[in-house]
Amino acid sequence: MDLREGMISYGARSTASRNARCSSARATSQPSRCHARRMNPSSISPDRLEHLRHLEAHLAEQIRGQDHVLPRVASVLHRGELGLAPRSRPRGSFLFLGPTGVGKTELTIAFTRYLAGHDKLFRFDMSEYQTQDSLGLLLGGKLGEVGLLGLTVAKSATGTLPFDEIEKAHPRVLDVFLQVLDAARVTMANGEALDLSGFYIVFTSNLGAAELLNLQHSSFTTMERHVLTKAQRSLRPELYARISEKIVFSRLSYDVQLDIARLHIGRELALLRGRGFDLVTDETVVSFLIQRGFHPRLGARPLRDAVEKYLRGAVADALLAEVSLHRGEFVVCGGELLLRPSQRTVPTVAIGG
Ligand SMILES: Nc1ncnc2c1ncn2[C@@H]1O[C@H](COP(=O)(O)OP(=O)(O)OP(=O)(O)O)[C@@H](O)[C@H]1O
Ligand SMILES: [Mg+2]
Repeated sequence: MDLREGMISYGARSTASRNARCSSARATSQPSRCHARRMNPSSISPDRLEHLRHLEAHLAEQIRGQDHVLPRVASVLHRGELGLAPRSRPRGSFLFLGPTGVGKTELTIAFTRYLAGHDKLFRFDMSEYQTQDSLGLLLGGKLGEVGLLGLTVAKSATGTLPFDEIEKAHPRVLDVFLQVLDAARVTMANGEALDLSGFYIVFTSNLGAAELLNLQHSSFTTMERHVLTKAQRSLRPELYARISEKIVFSRLSYDVQLDIARLHIGRELALLRGRGFDLVTDETVVSFLIQRGFHPRLGARPLRDAVEKYLRGAVADALLAEVSLHRGEFVVCGGELLLRPSQRTVPTVAIGG
């Protein structure tokens, strides 16, 4: 089990670490049946209501170029948070479809942190659940093993459960999701029922994404229909029909990636400011980074990596050279990104910072 930035991730792992996780499941006492706390609509505080009112605006600050997605996601989340989702079902369920690197996971992280906190996201990578045996990994097996879903519920009665690459899951695992979406319950191998009514369920998939990238001249509605039809067939119509919102994410245009570059630069500068470095940058730096990070098919992941690599690389070089970074500026010089002590008399506006 991985704990990164408060996010528990059940990703692709070696057999050795899988065994380790299974034995940790054995060592942990069995979770008692959980009672998910559902909000009574009349008991919601004015502060919480105010927080919920800002949900969509908050998501729009983090997720760019997916404007059609946010109101639909916020609507499900509002109902879930206000206690208006059917009692016997999860708080809300989503199928996020679309190409790689366009914000499916980023949005899931953003809304979970905003609504529940940093440690309430429990990711499952369905490429690990391709065989019938993998059901044991999820729900436990003989010898009283609890399974990773049981361990999760023992840890928290609320949060978000993203199941990535859902199309790779074995049909028996998909059957489990039918039960989860219908009744917010699942029966583990030891006979104990888990209550998942306090969770949001997020399935993600790249199904149909290759075609979506190739159909660049079609309207988004045409591409969306194509991807949804493909998903419905692959996941079985009965599972598809039980999911609250099925949403196709757009590919990210150059302009959107430019916007994302500024967002990420702003985040990096804020992070560095937290370490006592007052650093600024300008549009030449943005151009430098977008040239190295823009990718029309891989979304914003290479861009995010380029921003981290070049900005942090320049900081590391400056620190090693004992350059004072109390006030500094990033500059592009001879095809390289460098950091130097600020030579500006007029304060530069820090992008997004
Ligand atoms: N729409 C977006 N707005 C802001 N940042 C984005 C957006 N899309 C992607 N990013 C950046 O790119 C990174 C990768 O995106 P993300 O993990 O959401 O991809 P994904 O859609 O889940 O892809 P995959 O299908 O491969 O899982 C994020 O960590 C984030 O930094
Ligand atoms: Mg993802």
